[in-house]
Amino acid sequence: MAQEVRGVIAPGKDEPVRVETIVVPDPGPGEAVVQVQACGVCHTDLHYKQGGINDEFPFLLGHEAAGVVESVGEGVTDVAPGDFVILNWRAVCGNCRACLRGRPWYCFNTHNAEQKMTLTDGTELSPALGIGAFAEKTLVAAGQCTKVDPSVAPAVAGLLGCGVMAGIGAAINTGNVGRGDSVAVIGCGGVGDAAIAGANLAGAAKIIAVDIDDRKLETARSMGATHTVNSRESDPVAAIQELTGGFGADVVIEAVGRPETYKQAFYARDLAGTVVLVGVPTPEMKLELPLLDVFGRGGSLKSSWYGDCLPSRDFPMLIDLHLQGRLPLDKFVTETIELTDVEKAFERMHHGDVLRSVVVL
Ligand code: APR
Ligand code: ZN
Ligand code: ZN
Repeated sequence: MAQEVRGVIAPGKDEPVRVETIVVPDPGPGEAVVQVQACGVCHTDLHYKQGGINDEFPFLLGHEAAGVVESVGEGVTDVAPGDFVILNWRAVCGNCRACLRGRPWYCFNTHNAEQKMTLTDGTELSPALGIGAFAEKTLVAAGQCTKVDPSVAPAVAGLLGCGVMAGIGAAINTGNVGRGDSVAVIGCGGVGDAAIAGANLAGAAKIIAVDIDDRKLETARSMGATHTVNSRESDPVAAIQELTGGFGADVVIEAVGRPETYKQAFYARDLAGTVVLVGVPTPEMKLELPLLDVFGRGGSLKSSWYGDCLPSRDFPMLIDLHLQGRLPLDKFVTETIELTDVEKAFERMHHGDVLRSVVVL
């Protein structure tokens, strides 16, 4: 029997979001219905609402979520009703060229539910990132459910489902930060702060946080930054060089997604160092760099999509480290809110007032 629950939809381009009754089908083969307990508000949800991702309105928003599996469809063996899970948007296929080469974190054919959730009049909904978790229940592919230790608070766990994983993974997976490295992180919102926490976890000896907002720099320190630079007040490239013996950082993580901050990252790294772009640019942005500098400085220029995470490998491990007190995931939850508060949360996010607002159900 399909069920009716409450969910937050974006009805049309730039229209305010609203709570509607949505119809969640029973899970078909390979699918699961999850009772959502918490779901963080991410920039990508706002981009969906603004029409910046695609035009497939109405969207069922929300994708940084944790909850309990309620029911599973035929053939599902990895998760069972009652399991506490974090939802992921990288349910790997196992068969694409990336998976077959043993690099499933690049999977090019990730799974989502086949069936559609709808409004009560039958209008099909497009779930944000194939999840749609600003809802009491949601239908996903079973592979989108990653089991973790249920003793973690749902509001904390859900954040690993997107932005926080992107930041931590940018440091530990894409940037390969290791013991003793110097790391600089440009942009200290939720993603940049997670990169700082990840670099700290990986044993970086020096972690330089760069932002234009002193409030953000203060939080960055509490995440593990050893030095801070306000790039409105001083040149971040010179400051990072000065803090690293005149050379630049081994790994620079760009968590803003703009050409000017990318250039800062490019020049603030040491020779043969690594730049990781985890901030998401917009389509009109262009980057211009002397090709001789790209060649001459060596090293690697990488992008990090979802922190190059493999949910089944990374989520349980990071939750365990959090529960052991080694990863302060709880600090990313600025406030917990209700389903009806999502529009207000977008506003606060836009003003830079929060790391994450988390809807708790
Ligand atoms: N230099 C340094 N910091 C900057 C600059 C700049 N020119 N412009 C903005 N910032 C800082 C902001 O002050 C803020 O602290 O970057 C941070 C961005 O943080 P959030 O807006 O909270 O965004 P976040 O959720 O961290 O995501 C960062 O990653 O996933 C993508 O779409 C997301 O592109 C965005 C980026
Ligand atoms: Zn694949
Ligand atoms: Zn997100």
